[in-house]
Amino acid sequence: MFPTRRMRRLRRRTIQPLLSETTLSKKDLIAPIFVDESIEEPQPIGSMPGQYRHPVDGVATYVRRLRDAGIRAVILFGIPGQKDCEASGAYAAGGVVQRAVRAIKTTVPDMVVCTDLCACEYTDHGHCGIVGETCDGPDLLNDPSLDLMAKIAVSQAESGADVVAPSCMLDGMVQAIREALDGAGYQDVLIMSYSTKFSSALYGPFRDAAGSGYSFGDRSTYQMNPGNAREAYLESALDADEGADILMVKPAGLYLDILSSLAELGLPIAAYQVSGEYAQIKAAAERGWIDERAVVMESLLCIKRAGADLILTYFAEDAARWLDEEQ
Ligand code: PBG
Ligand code: ZN
Repeated sequence: MFPTRRMRRLRRRTIQPLLSETTLSKKDLIAPIFVDESIEEPQPIGSMPGQYRHPVDGVATYVRRLRDAGIRAVILFGIPGQKDCEASGAYAAGGVVQRAVRAIKTTVPDMVVCTDLCACEYTDHGHCGIVGETCDGPDLLNDPSLDLMAKIAVSQAESGADVVAPSCMLDGMVQAIREALDGAGYQDVLIMSYSTKFSSALYGPFRDAAGSGYSFGDRSTYQMNPGNAREAYLESALDADEGADILMVKPAGLYLDILSSLAELGLPIAAYQVSGEYAQIKAAAERGWIDERAVVMESLLCIKRAGADLILTYFAEDAARWLDEEQ
């Protein structure tokens, strides 16, 4: 007997648009931006075709363009002229990110400015905080690095950041940053924590772009094992308890199960489609092996379906244009 439930009725051309469960919108997108203190003109990033490092003078113009395209939020990554062992460039009032935030907030005041809050672009060893001897040899020191994160957070807030986004995966980072921000009068600055960040091979192009590779060891003593799901949940749950306003899973596409498991924590959730996810799509598209626009829109829709309220993606500007064209 032929089944009476014909699912294809739901997919009639006129019916299916009424029944779509997930909608991607421009307000979901956050555009990452690299700001480089040492350049005068935008410099293309080799492993991320279509992406540029932007000079401090000029970044506001680019952000204006993003705002005009309908993007409401950006996240800034700084590339300083000088590095040292304590990441002093990360909290300098005249630091690259601080200057960029001021310029953007002056030119495009209604753009939500998030700042990546980490030390790895600013340390000469390339790790995400203060390093020293541990019982297992040299490594990232947790508690001494918390003071550094607190200082960076306050200086980013002083420069006008709306949202600070700690990405160092230190224990207690959210609490330390919340206390420091509140103590300095920045109760209204949000913390979007990279609460579950995996030790992923997909950050390679970013590290080229930001010059943030490390000189010894790796990041696996602070970033998470990609195979661990219960630990991934607990990492985000702890940040929720410490006062994070928005949780994040990173990378996005390979970790959709983790993303969907965080919904019950009740907080807004962001997902970061990282540099390696971008590069994979770009490379295959350049060879004509996949349809870039279709794959990008599918990837973003599925990240949304899995539970992301916000998506950090290097495709933000293109996706905004494609979403306009779909209307
Ligand atoms: C810094 C940071 C990294 C990314 C975001 N913040 C790199 C890393 O952890 O090595 C990766 C982003 C990307 O790959 O697009 N802690
Ligand atoms: Zn880092």
